[in-house]
Amino acid sequence: MNADLMIAIDGPAASGKSTVAQILAEKLDYLYFDTGVMYRAVTLAALMRNVSIDDEPSVTKLTEHIAIDVIPPTKEDGRVYTVLLDGADVTWEIRSPEVNDFVSVVSMYAGVREAMTKRQREIGLRRRVVMVGRDIGTVVLHEADLKLFLDATVEERAKRRYEECLARGESVPYEEILTSMQSRDTLDSTRKLAPLVAADDAVKIDTTFMSIDEVVKIALRLLENGRTT
Ligand code: CDP
Repeated sequence: MNADLMIAIDGPAASGKSTVAQILAEKLDYLYFDTGVMYRAVTLAALMRNVSIDDEPSVTKLTEHIAIDVIPPTKEDGRVYTVLLDGADVTWEIRSPEVNDFVSVVSMYAGVREAMTKRQREIGLRRRVVMVGRDIGTVVLHEADLKLFLDATVEERAKRRYEECLARGESVPYEEILTSMQSRDTLDSTRKLAPLVAADDAVKIDTTFMSIDEVVKIALRLLENGRTT
């Protein structure tokens, strides 16, 4: 079963995709790659440099001038990787409410997507990868061997994100998280380019009432049974 596969996991925020992907990657000894990090880093760079988020040409140009690196964790503070923006550790900054509010606008821009998709595809095509995002099964690795599309009700997903924030010692009101998530869902699903949608050949899993372990078991069973695309 462990035959140099490309595994694509897509879905909306807090659908469980990152945790499931991390566990799968560890079990298979594959690379775990979270593509959302890259869109978040571009958004943070624009905010830090006072580039207006609505200024598509300037935000797009920014992608040519910044270096985004994802490396193994450099600190033991709950992170599973370290994200560097021009060499600076921005692992937690890219999760800020401000980045959440603007990332779906930045990720609509064709030039930004083109640059990010190209890098993601290069990494994915080396195989032995579990890649997570919104358009991995439909665009980035459309030829992936296994495609999962995870979903859950927005209330359940907001609750999960709220609890994650609390665990990190941040207290963002639940209602605020819910509203921000709903608007991100709408922007991500209705954009023209690479919208958040399940690939025709993806296995769809509603995780609302499921534990992470149950989802991982389903994925492993699919791999064992050769239920790859
Ligand atoms: O962790 P969470 O699910 O909240 O978000 P993320 O995976 O870090 O993605 C943040 C945002 O980046 C999404 O809301 C999308 O707007 C964008 N994104 C995208 O357009 N395509 C991807 N492959 C990954 C993320």
